[in-house]
Amino acid sequence: MPIANAFVEQNLQSDYRFNLVAGYCPSCHMFQLLEQPNPDQMFHESYPFFTGLSSTMRAHFKEMSEDHIPDAVSRNEESFIIEIGCNDGTFLQNVMDRGMNHLGVDPSKNVVEKAKEKGVNAIDEFYSFEVSKKISERYPSAIRIFASNVICHIPDLHDFLRGIKHNLALEGEFIFEEPYLLSMLKKISYDQLYDEHVYMFSLMSIQKLAEMHNLVLADAIPQETHGGSMRYVLKHADQSEKLSQRGLDLLNEEIKFGLDKLDSYQTFALNCENRKRELVALLKKLKDGNKVVGGYAATSKSTTVLNYCGIGKDLISFISDSTPEKIGTVAPGSYIPIISHEAMKTLKPDYLVLFAWNHEKEILNKEQILTKNGIKWIKFVPEVGFIHEQ
Ligand code: TMP
Repeated sequence: MPIANAFVEQNLQSDYRFNLVAGYCPSCHMFQLLEQPNPDQMFHESYPFFTGLSSTMRAHFKEMSEDHIPDAVSRNEESFIIEIGCNDGTFLQNVMDRGMNHLGVDPSKNVVEKAKEKGVNAIDEFYSFEVSKKISERYPSAIRIFASNVICHIPDLHDFLRGIKHNLALEGEFIFEEPYLLSMLKKISYDQLYDEHVYMFSLMSIQKLAEMHNLVLADAIPQETHGGSMRYVLKHADQSEKLSQRGLDLLNEEIKFGLDKLDSYQTFALNCENRKRELVALLKKLKDGNKVVGGYAATSKSTTVLNYCGIGKDLISFISDSTPEKIGTVAPGSYIPIISHEAMKTLKPDYLVLFAWNHEKEILNKEQILTKNGIKWIKFVPEVGFIHEQ
Protein backbone atom coordinates (compact mmCIF):
# COMPACT_ATOMS: atom_id res chain seq x y z
CA MET A 1 0.00 0.00 0.00
CA PRO A 2 1.08 3.56 -0.57
CA ILE A 3 0.64 6.18 2.18
CA ALA A 4 -3.12 6.83 2.30
CA ASN A 5 -2.86 10.59 2.25
CA ALA A 6 -0.02 10.92 -0.25
CA PHE A 7 -2.04 13.04 -2.68
CA VAL A 8 0.54 14.74 -4.88
CA GLU A 9 0.89 15.92 -8.44
CA GLN A 10 1.22 13.11 -10.95
CA ASN A 11 4.94 13.68 -11.56
CA LEU A 12 5.74 13.80 -7.84
CA GLN A 13 4.20 10.41 -7.01
CA SER A 14 6.47 8.35 -4.82
CA ASP A 15 6.81 4.62 -5.24
CA TYR A 16 7.04 4.17 -1.46
CA ARG A 17 4.99 1.14 -0.40
CA PHE A 18 4.56 -0.81 2.82
CA ASN A 19 2.84 -4.09 3.66
CA LEU A 20 -0.59 -3.50 5.11
CA VAL A 21 -0.97 -6.58 7.30
CA ALA A 22 -3.03 -6.67 10.48
CA GLY A 23 -2.67 -9.03 13.42
CA TYR A 24 -4.56 -9.87 16.60
CA CYS A 25 -2.87 -10.54 19.94
CA PRO A 26 -4.77 -13.10 22.06
CA SER A 27 -3.18 -11.96 25.31
CA CYS A 28 -3.74 -8.17 25.16
CA HIS A 29 -6.58 -8.35 22.57
CA MET A 30 -5.00 -5.64 20.43
CA PHE A 31 -5.76 -5.63 16.70
CA GLN A 32 -3.05 -3.72 14.88
CA LEU A 33 -0.94 -3.26 11.79
CA LEU A 34 2.21 -5.34 11.87
CA GLU A 35 4.26 -2.97 9.75
CA GLN A 36 4.26 0.76 10.29
CA PRO A 37 5.63 3.34 7.91
CA ASN A 38 7.75 6.10 9.43
CA PRO A 39 5.34 8.67 10.99
CA ASP A 40 7.24 11.48 9.24
CA GLN A 41 5.90 10.06 5.96
CA MET A 42 2.34 10.53 7.18
CA PHE A 43 1.88 13.62 9.38
CA HIS A 44 3.86 16.46 8.00
CA GLU A 45 3.64 20.13 7.20
CA SER A 46 0.94 19.70 4.62
CA TYR A 47 -1.42 17.14 6.14
CA PRO A 48 -4.41 17.59 3.81
CA PHE A 49 -7.28 17.08 6.24
CA PHE A 50 -9.22 19.80 8.01
CA THR A 51 -11.85 18.68 10.54
CA GLY A 52 -13.79 21.93 10.21
CA LEU A 53 -14.75 21.17 6.59
CA SER A 54 -17.35 18.66 7.71
CA SER A 55 -20.52 20.06 9.27
CA THR A 56 -21.19 16.64 10.86
CA MET A 57 -17.84 16.80 12.66
CA ARG A 58 -18.35 20.42 13.73
CA ALA A 59 -21.66 19.49 15.35
CA HIS A 60 -20.17 16.32 16.83
CA PHE A 61 -17.34 18.19 18.55
CA LYS A 62 -19.62 20.89 19.90
CA GLU A 63 -21.74 18.20 21.52
CA MET A 64 -18.65 16.40 22.84
CA SER A 65 -17.43 19.55 24.59
CA GLU A 66 -20.86 20.07 26.15
CA ASP A 67 -21.23 16.45 27.27
CA HIS A 68 -17.82 16.12 28.88
CA ILE A 69 -17.13 19.57 30.27
CA PRO A 70 -19.90 20.40 32.73
CA ASP A 71 -20.44 24.06 33.64
CA ALA A 72 -18.93 23.47 37.09
CA VAL A 73 -15.68 22.55 35.36
CA SER A 74 -15.77 25.31 32.75
CA ARG A 75 -16.52 28.00 35.35
CA ASN A 76 -13.55 26.98 37.49
CA GLU A 77 -10.74 29.34 36.50
CA GLU A 78 -8.16 26.67 37.26
CA SER A 79 -9.58 24.17 34.78
CA PHE A 80 -7.21 23.44 31.97
CA ILE A 81 -8.08 21.43 28.85
CA ILE A 82 -5.70 19.71 26.46
CA GLU A 83 -6.58 18.33 23.08
CA ILE A 84 -4.11 16.06 21.36
CA GLY A 85 -4.44 16.06 17.58
CA CYS A 86 -6.29 19.37 17.65
CA ASN A 87 -6.21 19.67 13.84
CA ASP A 88 -7.67 23.05 12.79
CA GLY A 89 -9.04 23.77 16.28
CA THR A 90 -12.64 22.74 15.52
CA PHE A 91 -13.10 21.10 18.94
CA LEU A 92 -11.05 23.57 20.99
CA GLN A 93 -12.94 26.50 19.54
CA ASN A 94 -15.90 25.36 21.65
CA VAL A 95 -13.66 25.25 24.72
CA MET A 96 -12.26 28.69 23.91
CA ASP A 97 -15.76 30.10 23.43
CA ARG A 98 -16.53 29.01 26.99
CA GLY A 99 -13.56 31.08 28.16
CA MET A 100 -11.43 28.12 29.25
CA ASN A 101 -7.66 27.81 29.29
CA HIS A 102 -6.59 25.21 26.80
CA LEU A 103 -3.80 23.85 24.66
CA GLY A 104 -3.95 22.02 21.36
CA VAL A 105 -1.12 19.76 20.23
CA ASP A 106 -0.77 18.58 16.64
CA PRO A 107 2.24 17.51 14.59
CA SER A 108 1.08 19.13 11.34
CA LYS A 109 2.12 22.76 10.98
CA ASN A 110 -0.51 23.70 8.42
CA VAL A 111 -3.46 22.59 10.58
CA VAL A 112 -1.97 24.23 13.70
CA GLU A 113 -1.73 27.49 11.74
CA LYS A 114 -5.45 27.19 10.92
CA ALA A 115 -6.22 26.60 14.63
CA LYS A 116 -4.19 29.65 15.63
CA GLU A 117 -6.04 31.79 13.08
CA LYS A 118 -9.20 30.97 15.04
CA GLY A 119 -7.54 32.16 18.26
CA VAL A 120 -6.95 28.64 19.59
CA ASN A 121 -3.77 28.15 21.63
CA ALA A 122 -1.85 25.35 19.90
CA ILE A 123 1.65 23.97 19.36
CA ASP A 124 2.95 21.78 16.55
CA GLU A 125 4.46 18.73 18.22
CA PHE A 126 4.05 14.95 18.16
CA TYR A 127 2.60 14.31 21.61
CA SER A 128 4.91 12.05 23.64
CA PHE A 129 6.15 11.64 27.20
CA GLU A 130 8.91 14.17 26.42
CA VAL A 131 6.37 16.69 25.13
CA SER A 132 4.10 16.06 28.15
CA LYS A 133 7.01 17.15 30.39
CA LYS A 134 7.47 20.33 28.36
CA ILE A 135 3.74 21.03 28.67
CA SER A 136 3.75 20.56 32.45
CA GLU A 137 6.60 23.09 32.79
CA ARG A 138 4.35 25.81 31.32
CA TYR A 139 0.81 24.69 32.09
CA PRO A 140 -1.17 23.15 34.98
CA SER A 141 -2.41 19.53 34.97
CA ALA A 142 -5.43 19.02 32.75
CA ILE A 143 -8.87 18.26 34.15
CA ARG A 144 -9.77 16.87 30.73
CA ILE A 145 -7.55 15.59 27.96
CA PHE A 146 -9.29 14.94 24.67
CA ALA A 147 -8.11 13.10 21.59
CA SER A 148 -10.30 12.18 18.64
CA ASN A 149 -9.04 9.82 15.99
CA VAL A 150 -5.51 10.26 17.21
CA ILE A 151 -4.40 7.37 19.38
CA CYS A 152 -4.97 4.77 16.71
CA HIS A 153 -2.24 6.65 14.81
CA ILE A 154 0.42 6.50 17.53
CA PRO A 155 2.99 3.74 17.01
CA ASP A 156 4.37 3.95 20.59
CA LEU A 157 1.20 3.79 22.65
CA HIS A 158 3.05 3.23 25.90
CA ASP A 159 5.10 6.40 25.58
CA PHE A 160 1.90 8.26 24.71
CA LEU A 161 0.07 6.97 27.79
CA ARG A 162 3.02 7.84 30.03
CA GLY A 163 2.48 11.39 28.76
CA ILE A 164 -1.24 11.26 29.55
CA LYS A 165 -0.56 9.91 33.03
CA HIS A 166 1.84 12.83 33.53
CA ASN A 167 -0.47 15.62 32.25
CA LEU A 168 -3.79 14.39 33.69
CA ALA A 169 -5.00 16.06 36.90
CA LEU A 170 -5.78 13.78 39.84
CA GLU A 171 -9.53 13.91 39.22
CA GLY A 172 -9.11 14.33 35.50
CA GLU A 173 -10.57 12.33 32.64
CA PHE A 174 -8.85 11.29 29.46
CA ILE A 175 -11.54 11.10 26.79
CA PHE A 176 -10.73 9.73 23.39
CA GLU A 177 -12.63 8.24 20.50
CA GLU A 178 -11.44 6.02 17.73
CA PRO A 179 -12.90 3.80 15.00
CA TYR A 180 -14.28 0.73 16.73
CA LEU A 181 -13.03 -2.76 16.00
CA LEU A 182 -16.41 -4.44 16.45
CA SER A 183 -18.05 -2.02 13.98
CA MET A 184 -15.34 -2.75 11.44
CA LEU A 185 -15.78 -6.51 11.75
CA LYS A 186 -19.57 -6.27 11.57
CA LYS A 187 -19.64 -3.87 8.60
CA ILE A 188 -16.60 -5.39 6.89
CA SER A 189 -15.32 -1.83 6.57
CA TYR A 190 -11.80 -2.93 5.75
CA ASP A 191 -11.07 0.56 4.44
CA GLN A 192 -10.61 1.61 8.07
CA LEU A 193 -7.21 -0.06 7.77
CA TYR A 194 -4.49 2.17 6.37
CA ASP A 195 -1.10 3.43 7.45
CA GLU A 196 -2.47 6.05 9.84
CA HIS A 197 -4.74 3.59 11.63
CA VAL A 198 -2.18 1.47 13.42
CA TYR A 199 -4.71 0.13 15.93
CA MET A 200 -8.39 -0.72 15.91
CA PHE A 201 -9.39 -0.63 19.55
CA SER A 202 -12.03 -2.46 21.53
CA LEU A 203 -13.06 -2.19 25.17
CA MET A 204 -11.10 -5.40 25.75
CA SER A 205 -7.83 -3.99 24.47
CA ILE A 206 -8.28 -0.57 26.06
CA GLN A 207 -8.93 -2.13 29.47
CA LYS A 208 -5.66 -4.05 29.26
CA LEU A 209 -3.74 -1.04 27.98
CA ALA A 210 -5.11 1.24 30.71
CA GLU A 211 -4.17 -1.31 33.37
CA MET A 212 -0.55 -1.26 32.19
CA HIS A 213 -0.42 2.47 32.93
CA ASN A 214 -2.23 2.53 36.23
CA LEU A 215 -5.29 3.99 34.53
CA VAL A 216 -8.75 2.48 34.36
CA LEU A 217 -11.55 2.36 31.80
CA ALA A 218 -14.48 4.08 33.52
CA ASP A 219 -16.94 4.42 30.66
CA ALA A 220 -17.43 3.81 26.93
CA ILE A 221 -19.96 5.49 24.65
CA PRO A 222 -20.66 4.32 21.07
CA GLN A 223 -20.46 7.01 18.36
CA GLU A 224 -21.80 7.20 14.82
CA THR A 225 -18.78 9.10 13.48
CA HIS A 226 -16.22 7.60 11.12
CA GLY A 227 -18.55 4.76 10.33
CA GLY A 228 -18.71 3.46 13.91
CA SER A 229 -16.45 4.73 16.66
CA MET A 230 -16.16 4.25 20.39
CA ARG A 231 -15.50 6.97 22.92
CA TYR A 232 -13.50 5.79 25.95
CA VAL A 233 -13.16 7.55 29.30
CA LEU A 234 -10.03 6.74 31.31
CA LYS A 235 -9.25 7.89 34.84
CA HIS A 236 -6.39 7.39 37.25
CA ALA A 237 -6.78 3.88 38.67
CA ASP A 238 -6.80 5.03 42.29
CA GLN A 239 -9.51 7.62 41.53
CA SER A 240 -12.11 5.60 39.77
CA GLU A 241 -14.89 3.29 40.46
CA LYS A 242 -15.47 0.29 38.20
CA LEU A 243 -16.51 0.29 34.55
CA SER A 244 -20.02 1.76 34.03
CA GLN A 245 -22.99 -0.52 33.33
CA ARG A 246 -23.01 0.79 29.74
CA GLY A 247 -19.37 -0.24 29.43
CA LEU A 248 -20.07 -3.69 30.90
CA ASP A 249 -22.88 -4.24 28.38
CA LEU A 250 -20.59 -3.27 25.50
CA LEU A 251 -17.89 -5.59 26.79
CA ASN A 252 -20.41 -8.45 26.87
CA GLU A 253 -21.32 -7.73 23.26
CA GLU A 254 -17.65 -8.01 22.31
CA ILE A 255 -17.39 -11.37 24.04
CA LYS A 256 -20.61 -12.58 22.42
CA PHE A 257 -19.29 -11.68 18.96
CA GLY A 258 -16.01 -13.44 19.67
CA LEU A 259 -13.58 -10.51 19.61
CA ASP A 260 -11.29 -12.70 21.72
CA LYS A 261 -11.32 -15.53 19.16
CA LEU A 262 -8.93 -15.77 16.22
CA ASP A 263 -11.72 -17.32 14.12
CA SER A 264 -13.59 -14.01 14.05
CA TYR A 265 -10.61 -12.35 12.38
CA GLN A 266 -10.18 -15.13 9.86
CA THR A 267 -13.84 -14.76 8.89
CA PHE A 268 -13.28 -11.02 8.50
CA ALA A 269 -10.39 -11.66 6.10
CA LEU A 270 -12.59 -13.91 3.95
CA ASN A 271 -15.38 -11.33 3.98
CA CYS A 272 -12.94 -8.66 2.75
CA GLU A 273 -11.96 -10.83 -0.22
CA ASN A 274 -15.64 -11.29 -1.10
CA ARG A 275 -16.35 -7.55 -0.95
CA LYS A 276 -13.33 -6.92 -3.18
CA ARG A 277 -14.55 -9.38 -5.81
CA GLU A 278 -18.07 -7.92 -5.75
CA LEU A 279 -16.94 -4.31 -6.11
CA VAL A 280 -14.56 -5.03 -8.98
CA ALA A 281 -17.24 -7.11 -10.76
CA LEU A 282 -19.77 -4.28 -10.46
CA LEU A 283 -17.35 -1.64 -11.77
CA LYS A 284 -16.30 -3.88 -14.67
CA LYS A 285 -19.94 -4.40 -15.61
CA LEU A 286 -20.56 -0.64 -15.65
CA LYS A 287 -17.40 -0.06 -17.67
CA ASP A 288 -18.52 -2.70 -20.20
CA GLY A 289 -21.81 -0.78 -20.48
CA ASN A 290 -19.80 2.41 -21.27
CA LYS A 291 -20.98 4.18 -18.13
CA VAL A 292 -19.06 7.13 -16.72
CA VAL A 293 -18.06 6.17 -13.18
CA GLY A 294 -16.45 8.60 -10.75
CA GLY A 295 -15.67 8.56 -7.04
CA TYR A 296 -17.01 11.01 -4.47
CA ALA A 297 -14.56 12.17 -1.74
CA ALA A 298 -10.88 11.30 -1.92
CA THR A 299 -10.75 9.87 1.58
CA SER A 300 -7.77 8.20 3.21
CA LYS A 301 -9.94 5.10 3.33
CA SER A 302 -10.31 5.16 -0.45
CA THR A 303 -6.58 4.48 -0.82
CA THR A 304 -7.08 1.09 0.83
CA VAL A 305 -10.12 0.26 -1.29
CA LEU A 306 -8.53 1.28 -4.59
CA ASN A 307 -5.19 -0.41 -3.97
CA TYR A 308 -6.56 -3.54 -2.29
CA CYS A 309 -9.09 -4.03 -5.09
CA GLY A 310 -6.62 -3.00 -7.81
CA ILE A 311 -8.98 -0.31 -9.13
CA GLY A 312 -7.40 2.29 -11.42
CA LYS A 313 -8.41 5.00 -13.90
CA ASP A 314 -9.81 2.33 -16.19
CA LEU A 315 -12.67 1.63 -13.76
CA ILE A 316 -13.05 4.97 -11.94
CA SER A 317 -12.22 7.96 -14.15
CA PHE A 318 -11.87 10.62 -11.42
CA ILE A 319 -12.62 11.32 -7.78
CA SER A 320 -14.16 14.61 -6.73
CA ASP A 321 -13.31 16.25 -3.43
CA SER A 322 -13.85 19.52 -1.57
CA THR A 323 -10.34 19.90 -0.14
CA PRO A 324 -8.45 22.53 -2.19
CA GLU A 325 -5.10 20.85 -1.36
CA LYS A 326 -6.23 17.58 -2.99
CA ILE A 327 -7.72 19.02 -6.17
CA GLY A 328 -5.31 18.71 -9.11
CA THR A 329 -3.44 15.80 -7.50
CA VAL A 330 -3.74 12.07 -8.17
CA ALA A 331 -4.87 9.41 -5.71
CA PRO A 332 -2.02 7.46 -4.07
CA GLY A 333 -1.17 4.28 -5.96
CA SER A 334 -4.20 4.27 -8.26
CA TYR A 335 -3.25 7.62 -9.86
CA ILE A 336 -6.91 8.49 -10.38
CA PRO A 337 -7.14 12.29 -10.87
CA ILE A 338 -8.74 14.30 -8.07
CA ILE A 339 -11.02 17.08 -9.28
CA SER A 340 -13.41 19.52 -7.62
CA HIS A 341 -17.08 18.66 -7.13
CA GLU A 342 -17.91 21.46 -9.58
CA ALA A 343 -15.66 19.93 -12.27
CA MET A 344 -17.18 16.51 -11.58
CA LYS A 345 -20.65 17.87 -12.33
CA THR A 346 -19.58 19.07 -15.77
CA LEU A 347 -18.34 15.55 -16.59
CA LYS A 348 -21.86 14.19 -16.04
CA PRO A 349 -21.05 10.85 -14.40
CA ASP A 350 -23.65 8.07 -14.47
CA TYR A 351 -22.39 6.54 -11.21
CA LEU A 352 -20.47 7.83 -8.19
CA VAL A 353 -18.75 5.55 -5.71
CA LEU A 354 -19.29 7.08 -2.29
CA PHE A 355 -15.87 6.78 -0.65
CA ALA A 356 -16.96 8.94 2.29
CA TRP A 357 -19.68 6.41 3.16
CA ASN A 358 -19.47 7.50 6.78
CA HIS A 359 -20.87 10.89 5.69
CA GLU A 360 -23.63 9.39 3.52
CA LYS A 361 -26.47 11.40 5.05
CA GLU A 362 -24.67 14.74 4.85
CA ILE A 363 -23.48 14.16 1.29
CA LEU A 364 -26.74 12.85 -0.17
CA ASN A 365 -28.52 15.74 1.43
CA LYS A 366 -26.07 18.25 -0.05
CA GLU A 367 -26.04 16.61 -3.47
CA GLN A 368 -29.77 16.05 -3.95
CA ILE A 369 -29.63 17.63 -7.40
CA LEU A 370 -27.17 15.00 -8.61
CA THR A 371 -29.49 12.25 -7.43
CA LYS A 372 -32.49 13.99 -9.03
CA ASN A 373 -30.53 14.23 -12.28
CA GLY A 374 -30.27 10.46 -12.29
CA ILE A 375 -26.75 9.85 -10.90
CA LYS A 376 -26.62 6.55 -9.04
CA TRP A 377 -24.55 6.20 -5.89
CA ILE A 378 -22.48 3.08 -5.29
CA LYS A 379 -21.61 1.85 -1.82
CA PHE A 380 -19.31 -0.94 -0.67
CA VAL A 381 -20.00 -0.89 3.10
CA PRO A 382 -21.69 -2.83 4.65
CA GLU A 383 -22.29 -4.48 1.27
CA VAL A 384 -21.55 -3.70 -2.37
CA GLY A 385 -24.51 -2.20 -4.22
CA PHE A 386 -26.49 0.95 -4.95
CA ILE A 387 -27.74 3.44 -2.41
CA HIS A 388 -31.50 3.63 -2.72
CA GLU A 389 -32.94 6.96 -1.73
CA GLN A 390 -35.61 6.81 0.96
P1 TMP B 1 -11.03 11.32 5.37
O1 TMP B 1 -12.11 10.27 5.37
O2 TMP B 1 -9.68 10.81 5.06
O3 TMP B 1 -11.08 12.12 6.62
O4 TMP B 1 -11.32 12.35 4.18
C1 TMP B 1 -12.54 12.93 3.95
C2 TMP B 1 -12.48 13.55 2.55
O5 TMP B 1 -13.78 13.66 2.06
C3 TMP B 1 -11.89 14.94 2.51
O6 TMP B 1 -10.90 15.02 1.49
C4 TMP B 1 -13.04 15.85 2.13
C5 TMP B 1 -13.98 14.92 1.45
N1 TMP B 1 -15.37 15.30 1.59
C6 TMP B 1 -16.00 15.90 0.51
O7 TMP B 1 -15.39 16.12 -0.53
N2 TMP B 1 -17.30 16.26 0.65
C7 TMP B 1 -17.99 16.06 1.81
O8 TMP B 1 -19.17 16.41 1.90
C8 TMP B 1 -17.33 15.42 2.92
C9 TMP B 1 -18.05 15.14 4.19
C10 TMP B 1 -16.01 15.04 2.75
